[in-house]
Amino acid sequence: MIPPKQVQDVIDAARIEDVVGEFVTLKRRGVNLIGLCPFHGERTPSFNVNPARNIFKCFGCGKGGDAVTFLREHESLTYLEALRWLARKYGIELQEVERSPEQLAQIQLADALYIVNDFGVQHFQHQLFDTDEGKSVALSYFKKRGLREDTIRTFGLGYAPDERDLLIRHARSTGHNIDLLKKVGLCSQDGGRDFFRARVMFAIHNLSGKVAAFAGRTMLSPSASGANIPKYVNSPETEIYVKNKTLYGAFQAKKAIRQLDECILVEGYMDVISLHQAGIQNVVASSGTSLTEGQLQLIKRNTNNLKILYDGDSAGIKAALRGLDLALEQDLNVKICLLPDGHDPDSYVQEFGGDKFNEFVTTNAKDFILFKTQVLLEETKNDPVKRAGLIKDIVASIAKIPDPIKRSVYLRACSNLLEVPESVLVAESNKLITGTIKKREEKSARLPEAASDSSPYKHGEEWPTEYPPMPADGDVPPDFHAPHLPKKAALPPRTESVQELDIIRMLILYGNQVLEREGVTVAQFILTDIEESLASFDNPLYGQIAVECHALLLQDKQFDQHFFIQHESSAVCELAINLIATPWEFSPNWEAMWNYPLQNQKIPDLNFDLDMKQALLRFKLLKVMKMCDANQVRIKSAYQLGDDDGVTRFMKIQQKLNETRNDIAKQLGTVVLPK
Ligand code: GTP
Ligand code: MN
Repeated sequence: MIPPKQVQDVIDAARIEDVVGEFVTLKRRGVNLIGLCPFHGERTPSFNVNPARNIFKCFGCGKGGDAVTFLREHESLTYLEALRWLARKYGIELQEVERSPEQLAQIQLADALYIVNDFGVQHFQHQLFDTDEGKSVALSYFKKRGLREDTIRTFGLGYAPDERDLLIRHARSTGHNIDLLKKVGLCSQDGGRDFFRARVMFAIHNLSGKVAAFAGRTMLSPSASGANIPKYVNSPETEIYVKNKTLYGAFQAKKAIRQLDECILVEGYMDVISLHQAGIQNVVASSGTSLTEGQLQLIKRNTNNLKILYDGDSAGIKAALRGLDLALEQDLNVKICLLPDGHDPDSYVQEFGGDKFNEFVTTNAKDFILFKTQVLLEETKNDPVKRAGLIKDIVASIAKIPDPIKRSVYLRACSNLLEVPESVLVAESNKLITGTIKKREEKSARLPEAASDSSPYKHGEEWPTEYPPMPADGDVPPDFHAPHLPKKAALPPRTESVQELDIIRMLILYGNQVLEREGVTVAQFILTDIEESLASFDNPLYGQIAVECHALLLQDKQFDQHFFIQHESSAVCELAINLIATPWEFSPNWEAMWNYPLQNQKIPDLNFDLDMKQALLRFKLLKVMKMCDANQVRIKSAYQLGDDDGVTRFMKIQQKLNETRNDIAKQLGTVVLPK
């Protein structure tokens, strides 16, 4: 929607120290600036801003990126919103010409709907604060429930009196469009009746604080309200209100969620408001429904730690437990805390205060999986059939956890709780995971472009990997095929990814720099040089990056650091930012070199050239050595089978491979001893 040229202008103009400086107090330390990290609570600064590389990086919580990343994370902006923010700051006029008329119409409609809702909030607040009826009926209701006036204003609470069309008349007299009022559900479709009547009102904000919808609560107690009055009524879904992507209180909570690196989930509006008032501000509500994937992603954007509070007497615990597997799949750490019987978070904090509340939650929050195990264990006492089902159920939850280390910890803990041998649980879990991988492979076979980011498995773990194919340069006979070793043996040792990382590091850091002597960019040079091995990266993430960059080059597209920092795969972003922040971390010989760029900002051509070519050689050496290893296996098995022809053939190949290996080693100045 913003032309690429303009995106570049904005990126070029943005100075990380200016942008961060608007939100964080920074002090100069050497070439860098430091401050207290806004993404996690800390007393001593570990938040680094590096003006030379135009990035920030917190060495406490690991967050890092460029100005766009910072705005997206800190201000919860989308990529485009962040660009617009920067454009405004640096006085760059964006011509977002490429929007279709439909898109424009949609944006205009959304803006109009927000304006009507804003009018609604003001109307309801006016009724609450400035009318006698509002004060005596509604304001007193909120106060009776322990809310202070500042809280009432923070959450945009209000009052809709029991009148047929008060809001409609007010809208007309102030020139608002009644059709829009209908559209957001503030009045009936014939435009004759207000939708919310005789209720206290709750504004539901979107993440940037605009009012997306309303909820109205009757002030009648359940016993007095008869059978047919619902406790709450809500605005309908509209272009600006998508229920399953909304969490009540998220706007008011997002800062605290990031700072505390934890999100507390409660059920009701009043729970959020009361806790917030008591100083517990990292709270959102699912508004009575079970969590959706959209809501989980919203949480995931801010923290990995989710704490769920349930009423002690909640009947829906079991159903909720099942729904929470979704949270595990997202790799959230989930804890559960049951409140004492008869209490919800609102009533508890109103009665005992914030400190007691915190204390209670801290001592009573249980890990979700262990909690689930205990609850189900209790239920299936003395019933072996049900018990078997329970074990399957628990293991299914555990198998959803993407992190293998976490998984094994849980399997061990549950084996103790369930009194089932750990090996049984491990086997069951592996069966489920293999099933998932198979399904995923089938899926990605159908969709070759499928982004690996959506996979729940982190790179380097349980990723099916093949041996690298042979080079196509005629060194080896064409009928040469990789051995069919069992899967386990085919998994490469992880430490050997260093050479691959070296290649990726250069692509990310210097990909678009032009090599003067060769007249091509670093990326072109590297990727052409290793074209044959593109498919044989052992590390899937590095391989993905190499393949993607290669495809971009073929389309004549350039890529720079920004491309990687803003990559849609979070694994790529993270890798890029780590490389940019600490480029020497993986390769000791770079440490010395980096004194240069820090001083004169430019890469010394000679050294860089050398380093790049060495990295390429090291990479190729690795690949050849792996082929040697694979070939040795072939020789051995041919020998065992008595296949003399095979032995001869593979020995010849070995000779070629050895020559290639020695040649590379010579260029590298390294001696490779034959095994
Ligand atoms: P109070 O009773 O005032 O403390 O409200 P609460 O928020 O604690 O209500 P409750 O625990 O009964 O329900 C939790 C949440 O479920 C509410 O905040 C609403 O989001 C939702 N909810 C409850 N009752 C209704 C209803 O009748 N209709 C709708 N649409 N939502 C409801
Ligand atoms: Mn309640």
